[in-house]
Amino acid sequence: MKTKLIPTKNSLREPTRRAMIELLNQQLADVLDLGLQAKQAHWNVKGPHFIGLHELFDKVAEELEGFTVNIAERAVELGGVALGTVQVVSKHSRLPAYSPDLASGQKHVAALSSALAQFGTTTRAAVDTAAKAGDADTADLFTEVSRAVDKLLWLVEAHMQAKE
Ligand SMILES: [Fe+2]
Repeated sequence: MKTKLIPTKNSLREPTRRAMIELLNQQLADVLDLGLQAKQAHWNVKGPHFIGLHELFDKVAEELEGFTVNIAERAVELGGVALGTVQVVSKHSRLPAYSPDLASGQKHVAALSSALAQFGTTTRAAVDTAAKAGDADTADLFTEVSRAVDKLLWLVEAHMQAKE
């Protein structure tokens, strides 16, 4: 996904900016995919907990949309091109495809919580990568995303944690 850097007065070193743009675009592909997965769950969930899950999945999608904007714009701030087209996302997202056959709340909760957990894992790794590269601001951005994804994961996962 290499693109030409746009000249900028940003004082981060070019190799650092290049590495961060690549990292940001990878997380962008994943979060765009994840946001659509949450919408897929929002639209199609059925069952006894319908309204709670329908609304929760929409809240998840909305919050992810906020991260999407911040991640994409940081790539551009650093002189990059934000790669957010459906074609790029479908090629580069690392999330498993979301099954269009899911219906019950439990199945959507299981699928979406796995996807959130996977994105949470790569986001935590992105915090470390950005910190090691010397870009504290990108690390901070990913830290904020990571903390929020942990919370979203809790909100979704709590639906399958009480078994009694
Ligand atoms: Fe809706």
